[in-house]
Amino acid sequence: MSMIKVGIIGSTGYTGKKLVELLLNHPFVEITYLSSQRYKNTFYSSIYPEFRKKLNLKCEALSLDKVCEKSDIIFLCVPHTTSMEITPHLLKKNKKVIDLSADYRIKNPRIYKKFYKVMHKDLGNLKKSVYGLPEFFKEEIKEADLVSNPGCYSTVVLLSILPLIMEDVIKESVFIDAKSGASGAGRKLQEGLLYCEVNENVKCYSPFVHRHIPEMEEVIYRLTKKTVKLNFVPHILPLSSGIMVDIYIRLKKFLTSRDLKKIYSVYSSQPFVRICEDLPSLKNVVGTNFCDIGMRILKEEKILLVVGVIDNLIKGAGGQAIQNMNIISGLSQTEGLM
Ligand SMILES: NC(=O)c1ccc[n+]([C@@H]2O[C@H](COP(=O)([O-])OP(=O)(O)OC[C@H]3O[C@@H](n4cnc5c(N)ncnc54)[C@H](OP(=O)(O)O)[C@@H]3O)[C@@H](O)[C@H]2O)c1
Repeated sequence: MSMIKVGIIGSTGYTGKKLVELLLNHPFVEITYLSSQRYKNTFYSSIYPEFRKKLNLKCEALSLDKVCEKSDIIFLCVPHTTSMEITPHLLKKNKKVIDLSADYRIKNPRIYKKFYKVMHKDLGNLKKSVYGLPEFFKEEIKEADLVSNPGCYSTVVLLSILPLIMEDVIKESVFIDAKSGASGAGRKLQEGLLYCEVNENVKCYSPFVHRHIPEMEEVIYRLTKKTVKLNFVPHILPLSSGIMVDIYIRLKKFLTSRDLKKIYSVYSSQPFVRICEDLPSLKNVVGTNFCDIGMRILKEEKILLVVGVIDNLIKGAGGQAIQNMNIISGLSQTEGLM
């Protein structure tokens, strides 16, 4: 197979850097273009010395013509609103685009405006974009020109609860206590992410209004035609990477562990979802593309606790983006990721 030429726009941020690291180990990929405004004309290995003798490429100020000339598949690792400015040009040149931002995740432009505070500027491509959660949208991803990589929290929450929603066993709304390492907010400077603010601390932010809530609720409806209210409360942890979600669910009926096993057997042929007997732990997934899911049931109350963990920069971003690239390219999903 010939090498896939890959360009990364926004290559110096946390997700861009993780993609570079993972793609350098991909047997069928050649990184051909890296963009950065801040570090234009600078060798990537001068910005990140860990890449010395591994990658001999300079970051360039973004040129849409050049990235199209040099790449077959382009990853967008830029903030939301920037992606929708860039994507139409890339698609016009028949490039495949995998967008890690939120711009093409929410299909309803009114909801997008409500949560992201701007009008969507690319409604045509928004309609055509495919949600890049391979465990549920693989067939659509195969044919897609534009894949919208899911949010990091959305990835782990959806993988953890979709099987239960599909079986219609959830009564009322669900409560989600979510915790993320600090890289989830990106590399840009923010006071709340300074070492002294994050270290030896855990804090709650955006309770019940986080931007991933409408994304998750919309995807749940698209897949199951069910409306499930998600009471989502995220926290920041004094860790670089990793997300853990504890999901509290009131069940319509009591479920045995055998019932749960059957419900979660939808993942038996999915390479990156592991259903665990023990409760999942961040250490088992950080640095990997796995999502581990475990559960415990409170029999008398018919309450189920589902715990899910991922690495936010891998299964929650760059790793899942590569999984999507593999599917688009007709490769095994696990290529370069195991
Ligand atoms: N961090 C996560 O865990 C995570 C997970 C899933 C999805 N995401 C999403 O992925 C995207 C990137 O996140 P990140 O954490 O990597 O952010 P980040 O660390 O802040 O990096 C952003 C990158 O985008 C570039 N950039 C910023 N404004 C730009 C513009 N107007 N034109 C071109 N490039 C621009 C920056 O370039 P310079 O080199 O010039 O600074 C930088 O390389 C975001 O949309 C984020 O929501 C993040």
